[in-house]
Amino acid sequence: MPYQQSWGSNNESGWLSARTAISFGAGALLMLTASRIAPPFAGRAIGSLRSMAGTDPFEALAQDHRKVLALLEQIEATDKSATMRRGAMLFQVKRMLTAHALAEEDIVYPMLHDDAHRAEEAKKLYREHADIKVRLFELEHKAKDDPSWIEGIRELRRILAEHAREEEQVEFPKLRAALDERRKSNLLGEVHREKSMVL
Ligand SMILES: [Fe+2]
Ligand SMILES: [Fe+2]
Repeated sequence: MPYQQSWGSNNESGWLSARTAISFGAGALLMLTASRIAPPFAGRAIGSLRSMAGTDPFEALAQDHRKVLALLEQIEATDKSATMRRGAMLFQVKRMLTAHALAEEDIVYPMLHDDAHRAEEAKKLYREHADIKVRLFELEHKAKDDPSWIEGIRELRRILAEHAREEEQVEFPKLRAALDERRKSNLLGEVHREKSMVL
């Protein structure tokens, strides 16, 4: 019967099945690749749209600062017995900071270095990020009910608040003054693209 012939186990239909499987595999691979590549571009597109709607790239970064500082305050309010919750909240802090730091380290600080001619200040900010990352690593590996853990969270919040104050009140205004409208608009798109690689 024609039906059996086309789906039988002869060589030709075997080849067709293999070809179908290969093209399905290739399609799945293409979709997977696209899904890995798409977020940065989508992120950039969202950033550009927000920029057109008037969102300031530096305000977006300042919002990140406020969110992560508020989350650290919430961690400080937890009971020492809530070790799972503390671990989960710290993971969220790490995720937010990783995305934020990627955007600053790959986009904002190089512009601060080159466009605003703040080479030493940019390097200092990189060093502060490195210190924050080491602290996060220590907090991640320490017992969450140890009294020194919550002390470490408090210290991290203090360091982050000072770092954020320096960026918002000194360095971001310098960079803002050094960029024209087009570059500021591009900056927001680029910041979102970097963040979308993590978030
Ligand atoms: Fe920073
Ligand atoms: Fe920042």
